[in-house]
Amino acid sequence: MARVFVTRRIPGPALQRLEASHDMHVWPERLPPSPAELAARARDAEGLLTLLTDRVDGELLDRCPSVRAISNYAVGVDNIDLDAATRRGIPVGNTPDVLTETTADLTFALLLAAARKLPPAISSVHDGDWLTWEPGLHLGSEVHGAVLGIVGLGRIGRAVARRAQGFEMTVIHSGAGDGDALDAVLTQSDFVSLHCPLTPATRHLIDRAALSRMRPTAILINTARGPIVDQVALRAALVDGTIAGAALDVTDPEPLPPDDPLLSAPNLIVAPHIGSATHATRERMTDLAVENLLAGLDGRPMPHQANVLERTPR
Ligand code: DGY
Repeated sequence: MARVFVTRRIPGPALQRLEASHDMHVWPERLPPSPAELAARARDAEGLLTLLTDRVDGELLDRCPSVRAISNYAVGVDNIDLDAATRRGIPVGNTPDVLTETTADLTFALLLAAARKLPPAISSVHDGDWLTWEPGLHLGSEVHGAVLGIVGLGRIGRAVARRAQGFEMTVIHSGAGDGDALDAVLTQSDFVSLHCPLTPATRHLIDRAALSRMRPTAILINTARGPIVDQVALRAALVDGTIAGAALDVTDPEPLPPDDPLLSAPNLIVAPHIGSATHATRERMTDLAVENLLAGLDGRPMPHQANVLERTPR
């Protein structure tokens, strides 16, 4: 029986399986453990089940020499220094597939909401600002038949592309590092949707230069990771009309402080990182995260492992 630290309460019954076979401790607070608290609680742990709000780097792993398996409750693993884990022979699990369709649904919800200006339109009803049906009120852009540019045609990008077919959209795509293809996506799309992982190469991929290549009528959607977009440049682009709007499920940092200048930009929707937030998907994520951790602690290959170990696991 190994000591296991789970850094937050997570939905679904699967944690019971972990508790049945290991000495499981769950961080009980709503807010994540601070780095010092994480190090203190993880110090004697052999297994960690972490969230995207936990920074797991070489320094933490040095302070927690017993850790021999990490399971991240997310498909993204940018909160984990994979190289540091790999060098120490620690497998790192993640949760792809189980959240693909759900995140694609949210991407489309944001796309539609931004295109049809749903937040201000709905607010006007609640605020008593809606006076009468008016021909020129809350005019948005058409989604059907528009061009959708996808940056990062992985699992989620492909699921978004499938939804776009139902709207008879033309889908074009590029990888994050595909110079000409990326430029074509930026210059030709009515909607640009980001689905690449956050890596050193994609940090601020959408900067002032990239935004200036987009159409003044275009809308940017980001359900990937906040730091892929340079938010200072995005604010400027929204204010001066370089682009028509943006819908973000992710920001840098999360949450944005209420006085962050980005939040006062026009034609902006910001959601609180809810791409995978359905009951069923979050339970499937728990299930997979637990299976990954159980496998890692048993010395078996994880069902979804984000790193390739060069030496025998710890
Ligand atoms: C992930 O899994 O990386 C999402 O951002 C949260 O579900």
